[in-house]
Amino acid sequence: MLHRRWFPDHLDGATVVLRRHTRDNLRDFMRWYQDPEVARLTRYQDGPMRAEEIERFFTMRALGSDSLAMGIHVRETNRLIGSCAFSQLDGDNGSALFHITIGERDAWGKGYGGEATSLMVDHALGSLGLHRVALSVFAFNERAIRAYERVGFVTEGRSREAIWRDGRWWDEIHMSVLEPEWRARRWQERAIAEGRAPVPDAEGAVAPNRGG
Ligand SMILES: CC(C)(COP(=O)(O)OP(=O)(O)OC[C@H]1O[C@@H](n2cnc3c(N)ncnc32)[C@H](O)[C@@H]1OP(=O)(O)O)[C@@H](O)C(=O)NCCC(=O)NCCS
Repeated sequence: MLHRRWFPDHLDGATVVLRRHTRDNLRDFMRWYQDPEVARLTRYQDGPMRAEEIERFFTMRALGSDSLAMGIHVRETNRLIGSCAFSQLDGDNGSALFHITIGERDAWGKGYGGEATSLMVDHALGSLGLHRVALSVFAFNERAIRAYERVGFVTEGRSREAIWRDGRWWDEIHMSVLEPEWRARRWQERAIAEGRAPVPDAEGAVAPNRGG
Protein backbone atom coordinates (compact mmCIF):
# COMPACT_ATOMS: atom_id res chain seq x y z
CA MET A 1 0.00 0.00 0.00
CA LEU A 2 1.00 3.62 -0.43
CA HIS A 3 2.76 5.56 2.27
CA ARG A 4 -0.18 7.01 4.16
CA ARG A 5 -0.46 10.47 5.58
CA TRP A 6 -3.62 9.82 7.55
CA PHE A 7 -4.07 13.33 8.87
CA PRO A 8 -3.89 16.10 6.30
CA ASP A 9 -3.63 19.67 7.67
CA HIS A 10 -6.39 20.75 5.33
CA LEU A 11 -8.42 19.58 2.35
CA ASP A 12 -9.47 22.37 0.00
CA GLY A 13 -12.69 22.45 -2.01
CA ALA A 14 -14.44 25.12 -4.05
CA THR A 15 -16.85 26.14 -1.26
CA VAL A 16 -15.44 24.51 1.89
CA VAL A 17 -12.07 23.89 3.46
CA LEU A 18 -11.61 21.02 5.90
CA ARG A 19 -9.13 21.68 8.71
CA ARG A 20 -7.97 19.73 11.73
CA HIS A 21 -9.97 20.64 14.83
CA THR A 22 -8.56 22.87 17.53
CA ARG A 23 -9.61 22.98 21.21
CA ASP A 24 -11.53 26.20 20.52
CA ASN A 25 -14.00 24.29 18.35
CA LEU A 26 -15.50 22.69 21.47
CA ARG A 27 -17.72 25.76 21.99
CA ASP A 28 -19.42 25.19 18.62
CA PHE A 29 -19.67 21.42 19.20
CA MET A 30 -21.55 22.18 22.44
CA ARG A 31 -24.11 24.26 20.57
CA TRP A 32 -24.51 21.83 17.66
CA TYR A 33 -24.94 18.68 19.69
CA GLN A 34 -27.41 20.29 22.08
CA ASP A 35 -29.69 21.11 19.15
CA PRO A 36 -32.65 18.67 19.26
CA GLU A 37 -32.92 18.54 15.44
CA VAL A 38 -29.25 17.61 15.06
CA ALA A 39 -29.81 14.93 17.72
CA ARG A 40 -32.91 13.64 15.90
CA LEU A 41 -30.93 13.19 12.70
CA THR A 42 -27.75 11.73 14.15
CA ARG A 43 -28.40 9.91 17.44
CA TYR A 44 -29.84 6.51 18.28
CA GLN A 45 -30.88 7.82 21.68
CA ASP A 46 -33.79 10.18 22.08
CA GLY A 47 -32.75 13.79 22.77
CA PRO A 48 -29.46 15.67 22.65
CA MET A 49 -26.21 14.75 24.42
CA ARG A 50 -25.37 16.15 27.82
CA ALA A 51 -22.52 18.68 28.03
CA GLU A 52 -20.08 16.19 29.56
CA GLU A 53 -20.89 13.64 26.83
CA ILE A 54 -20.21 16.25 24.17
CA GLU A 55 -16.89 17.16 25.75
CA ARG A 56 -15.88 13.48 25.88
CA PHE A 57 -17.03 12.94 22.30
CA PHE A 58 -15.12 16.03 21.15
CA THR A 59 -11.90 15.00 22.91
CA MET A 60 -12.01 11.44 21.63
CA ARG A 61 -13.53 11.80 18.18
CA ALA A 62 -12.55 15.31 17.07
CA LEU A 63 -9.11 15.76 18.66
CA GLY A 64 -8.08 12.16 19.27
CA SER A 65 -6.06 10.07 16.86
CA ASP A 66 -8.53 7.14 16.75
CA SER A 67 -10.62 8.85 14.13
CA LEU A 68 -9.63 11.18 11.33
CA ALA A 69 -11.81 14.21 12.05
CA MET A 70 -11.86 17.53 10.23
CA GLY A 71 -13.74 20.76 10.87
CA ILE A 72 -15.82 22.01 7.93
CA HIS A 73 -15.19 25.70 7.20
CA VAL A 74 -16.92 27.85 4.61
CA ARG A 75 -14.11 28.78 2.27
CA GLU A 76 -15.08 32.42 1.78
CA THR A 77 -15.47 33.35 5.45
CA ASN A 78 -13.61 30.55 7.27
CA ARG A 79 -16.75 30.08 9.44
CA LEU A 80 -16.79 26.67 11.15
CA ILE A 81 -20.12 24.99 10.31
CA GLY A 82 -19.60 21.33 11.14
CA SER A 83 -17.42 18.31 11.42
CA CYS A 84 -16.74 15.15 9.46
CA ALA A 85 -14.68 12.11 10.31
CA PHE A 86 -13.57 8.62 9.51
CA SER A 87 -13.82 6.13 12.34
CA GLN A 88 -12.83 2.47 12.17
CA LEU A 89 -9.90 3.23 9.87
CA ASP A 90 -8.88 -0.26 8.86
CA GLY A 91 -5.68 -0.30 6.85
CA ASP A 92 -5.61 -4.12 6.58
CA ASN A 93 -8.94 -4.22 4.79
CA GLY A 94 -8.67 -0.78 3.21
CA SER A 95 -11.89 0.55 4.69
CA ALA A 96 -13.25 3.40 6.79
CA LEU A 97 -16.58 4.50 8.23
CA PHE A 98 -17.66 8.08 7.42
CA HIS A 99 -19.59 10.49 9.66
CA ILE A 100 -20.66 14.08 9.04
CA THR A 101 -22.60 16.70 10.96
CA ILE A 102 -23.16 20.25 9.81
CA GLY A 103 -24.24 21.77 13.10
CA GLU A 104 -25.19 25.20 11.78
CA ARG A 105 -28.72 24.78 10.48
CA ASP A 106 -28.54 27.81 8.19
CA ALA A 107 -25.73 26.01 6.33
CA TRP A 108 -27.85 22.98 5.40
CA GLY A 109 -28.82 22.35 1.79
CA LYS A 110 -26.19 24.64 0.26
CA GLY A 111 -23.91 21.95 -1.08
CA TYR A 112 -21.35 22.21 1.74
CA GLY A 113 -22.01 18.73 3.13
CA GLY A 114 -21.83 17.14 -0.30
CA GLU A 115 -18.53 18.83 -1.04
CA ALA A 116 -17.06 17.96 2.38
CA THR A 117 -18.08 14.31 1.84
CA SER A 118 -16.52 14.34 -1.59
CA LEU A 119 -13.22 15.77 -0.25
CA MET A 120 -13.08 13.10 2.45
CA VAL A 121 -13.84 10.30 -0.02
CA ASP A 122 -11.14 11.64 -2.38
CA HIS A 123 -8.70 11.65 0.51
CA ALA A 124 -9.58 8.10 1.58
CA LEU A 125 -9.73 6.44 -1.83
CA GLY A 126 -7.24 8.65 -3.64
CA SER A 127 -4.53 9.83 -1.23
CA LEU A 128 -4.75 7.07 1.38
CA GLY A 129 -5.29 4.29 -1.14
CA LEU A 130 -8.22 2.75 0.76
CA HIS A 131 -10.70 0.52 -1.05
CA ARG A 132 -14.03 1.30 0.56
CA VAL A 133 -15.82 4.04 2.48
CA ALA A 134 -19.05 3.12 4.25
CA LEU A 135 -21.66 4.99 6.29
CA SER A 136 -25.03 4.52 7.97
CA VAL A 137 -27.96 6.90 7.83
CA PHE A 138 -31.52 6.87 9.15
CA ALA A 139 -34.11 6.36 6.40
CA PHE A 140 -35.95 9.59 7.30
CA ASN A 141 -32.82 11.69 6.69
CA GLU A 142 -33.58 12.36 3.04
CA ARG A 143 -31.27 15.33 2.74
CA ALA A 144 -28.29 13.27 3.91
CA ILE A 145 -29.16 10.31 1.64
CA ARG A 146 -29.45 12.62 -1.35
CA ALA A 147 -26.11 14.28 -0.56
CA TYR A 148 -24.39 10.87 -0.22
CA GLU A 149 -25.89 9.60 -3.48
CA ARG A 150 -24.63 12.69 -5.28
CA VAL A 151 -21.12 11.83 -4.15
CA GLY A 152 -21.45 8.24 -5.41
CA PHE A 153 -22.54 6.24 -2.36
CA VAL A 154 -24.93 3.38 -3.09
CA THR A 155 -27.22 1.53 -0.72
CA GLU A 156 -25.76 -1.85 0.17
CA GLY A 157 -28.23 -2.92 2.82
CA ARG A 158 -30.63 -1.89 5.54
CA SER A 159 -31.14 -2.71 9.16
CA ARG A 160 -34.90 -3.06 9.21
CA GLU A 161 -36.82 -0.96 11.74
CA ALA A 162 -33.65 -0.26 13.68
CA ILE A 163 -34.70 3.12 14.98
CA TRP A 164 -37.81 4.47 16.71
CA ARG A 165 -38.33 8.11 15.87
CA ASP A 166 -41.30 10.47 15.57
CA GLY A 167 -43.72 7.75 16.67
CA ARG A 168 -42.76 4.99 14.24
CA TRP A 169 -40.03 2.56 13.20
CA TRP A 170 -37.51 3.46 10.53
CA ASP A 171 -34.82 1.46 8.74
CA GLU A 172 -31.17 2.34 9.06
CA ILE A 173 -29.61 2.42 5.60
CA HIS A 174 -26.04 1.26 4.97
CA MET A 175 -24.25 2.88 2.05
CA SER A 176 -20.77 2.59 0.60
CA VAL A 177 -18.56 3.67 -2.25
CA LEU A 178 -15.77 1.45 -3.60
CA GLU A 179 -12.53 2.68 -5.12
CA PRO A 180 -13.19 1.43 -8.71
CA GLU A 181 -16.62 3.14 -8.70
CA TRP A 182 -15.08 6.34 -7.39
CA ARG A 183 -12.30 6.21 -10.02
CA ALA A 184 -14.85 5.66 -12.82
CA ARG A 185 -16.90 8.66 -11.64
CA ARG A 186 -13.83 10.87 -11.50
CA TRP A 187 -12.86 9.74 -14.99
CA GLN A 188 -16.35 10.52 -16.29
CA GLU A 189 -16.42 13.94 -14.60
CA ARG A 190 -13.08 14.79 -16.17
CA ALA A 191 -14.22 13.54 -19.58
CA ILE A 192 -17.40 15.66 -19.38
CA ALA A 193 -15.42 18.73 -18.30
CA GLU A 194 -13.09 18.23 -21.26
CA GLY A 195 -16.00 17.57 -23.68
CA ARG A 196 -14.95 13.93 -24.27
CA ALA A 197 -18.18 12.44 -22.86
CA PRO A 198 -21.89 13.40 -23.07
CA VAL A 199 -23.53 15.11 -20.10
CA PRO A 200 -26.01 12.72 -18.39
CA ASP A 201 -29.59 13.89 -17.78
CA ALA A 202 -31.07 14.26 -14.27
CA GLU A 203 -31.62 10.46 -14.02
CA GLY A 204 -28.03 9.78 -15.01
CA ALA A 205 -28.91 8.56 -18.54
CA VAL A 206 -26.92 9.69 -21.56
CA ALA A 207 -28.28 10.15 -25.08
CA PRO A 208 -28.00 6.98 -27.22
CA ASN A 209 -25.17 6.86 -29.71
CA ARG A 210 -26.89 7.54 -33.03
CA GLY A 211 -23.78 6.70 -34.99
CA GLY A 212 -24.69 3.00 -34.76
C1 LIG B 1 -26.55 15.62 5.99
C2 LIG B 1 -25.72 16.84 5.67
C3 LIG B 1 -24.24 16.54 5.93
C4 LIG B 1 -25.87 17.17 4.17
O1 LIG B 1 -25.13 18.30 3.88
P1 LIG B 1 -25.84 19.54 3.14
O2 LIG B 1 -24.83 20.56 2.87
O3 LIG B 1 -27.03 19.94 3.93
O4 LIG B 1 -26.33 18.80 1.81
P2 LIG B 1 -26.09 19.26 0.28
O5 LIG B 1 -26.61 20.64 0.10
O6 LIG B 1 -24.69 18.96 -0.13
O7 LIG B 1 -27.01 18.20 -0.47
C5 LIG B 1 -28.33 18.00 -0.06
C6 LIG B 1 -29.13 17.38 -1.17
O8 LIG B 1 -30.41 17.03 -0.65
C7 LIG B 1 -31.41 17.87 -1.20
N1 LIG B 1 -32.22 18.31 -0.06
C8 LIG B 1 -32.11 19.43 0.67
N2 LIG B 1 -33.05 19.44 1.64
C9 LIG B 1 -33.76 18.29 1.50
C10 LIG B 1 -34.84 17.72 2.20
N3 LIG B 1 -35.40 18.33 3.24
N4 LIG B 1 -35.30 16.51 1.77
C11 LIG B 1 -34.75 15.87 0.73
N5 LIG B 1 -33.69 16.38 0.02
C12 LIG B 1 -33.21 17.57 0.42
C13 LIG B 1 -30.70 19.01 -1.88
O9 LIG B 1 -31.44 19.50 -2.96
C14 LIG B 1 -29.40 18.32 -2.30
O10 LIG B 1 -29.61 17.53 -3.44
P3 LIG B 1 -29.17 18.02 -4.91
O11 LIG B 1 -27.70 18.25 -4.82
O12 LIG B 1 -29.54 16.92 -5.80
O13 LIG B 1 -29.93 19.29 -5.16
C15 LIG B 1 -26.17 18.07 6.52
O14 LIG B 1 -27.46 18.48 6.10
C16 LIG B 1 -26.17 17.77 8.00
O15 LIG B 1 -25.13 17.65 8.61
N6 LIG B 1 -27.38 17.66 8.61
C17 LIG B 1 -27.52 17.47 10.06
C18 LIG B 1 -26.83 16.22 10.63
C19 LIG B 1 -27.01 15.01 9.75
O16 LIG B 1 -28.08 14.70 9.26
N7 LIG B 1 -25.90 14.28 9.57
C20 LIG B 1 -25.87 13.05 8.79
C21 LIG B 1 -26.15 11.86 9.64
S1 LIG B 1 -26.01 10.34 8.72
